Amino acid sequence: MIFPIFLTFSLLISLSFANTVSNYCVGDLSLPSGPAGYSCKDPAKVTVDDFVYSGLRVAANTTNLFKFGGNNAFTAQFPGLNGMGLSIVRVDMEVGGYFPIHTHRVPELFTLVEGTIVAGFIDSFNTPFYKTLNKGDIMIFPPTLIHFAINVGSTPVLAYATFSSENPGVQLIDTALFRNNMPSDLVQKITLLDPAQVTKLKNLFGGTN
Ligand SMILES: *[C@@H]1O[C@H](CO)[C@@H](O)[C@H](O)[C@H]1NC(C)=O
Repeated sequence: MIFPIFLTFSLLISLSFANTVSNYCVGDLSLPSGPAGYSCKDPAKVTVDDFVYSGLRVAANTTNLFKFGGNNAFTAQFPGLNGMGLSIVRVDMEVGGYFPIHTHRVPELFTLVEGTIVAGFIDSFNTPFYKTLNKGDIMIFPPTLIHFAINVGSTPVLAYATFSSENPGVQLIDTALFRNNMPSDLVQKITLLDPAQVTKLKNLFGGTN
């Protein structure tokens, strides 16, 4: 007799916890975000659509120098991710396209769905790790290490990159160096490139100075 009563009590207690502690915090994009993410949207206004995002049905725009595009599902696009510590990017690469060398502060699990690529990273001992990946292969890129992917096949590439953060802080090396107004002589010093190369790359990427 005591045991069923105890069970009933624990059930009541767990139900009341379920009612007061939320397992989600849909981001309220109308308020500013901080390092911990966005404030929670009013739970009374949350619907199933806050937990579904259809933006990745669409191929990313690949009209650029690299013939690659990424459709991001970060909190800004998919507020249901707020506080979940996860995000995903749809990656498209045309034939002859490549995902230029870049970095981010969290690990990335890369899943190749269509096509053939050479993918790799360079570790902090300057050792390169790269390999040809085929449809269905996955690869892990450790946090912060620079990495890349090149479409070496004769068909477009579709892949998904998942991150253990809803805001992984992606930084492309080329655009970081050449798409801003940092003076060319500084860029030249820190890269050892010739002035003509710096000018060419700034023109290509839209940098000034
Ligand atoms: C794709 O990106 C290019 C270059 O930024 C732009 O000119 C073009 O309008 C974009 N296409 C679409 C469909 O958004």
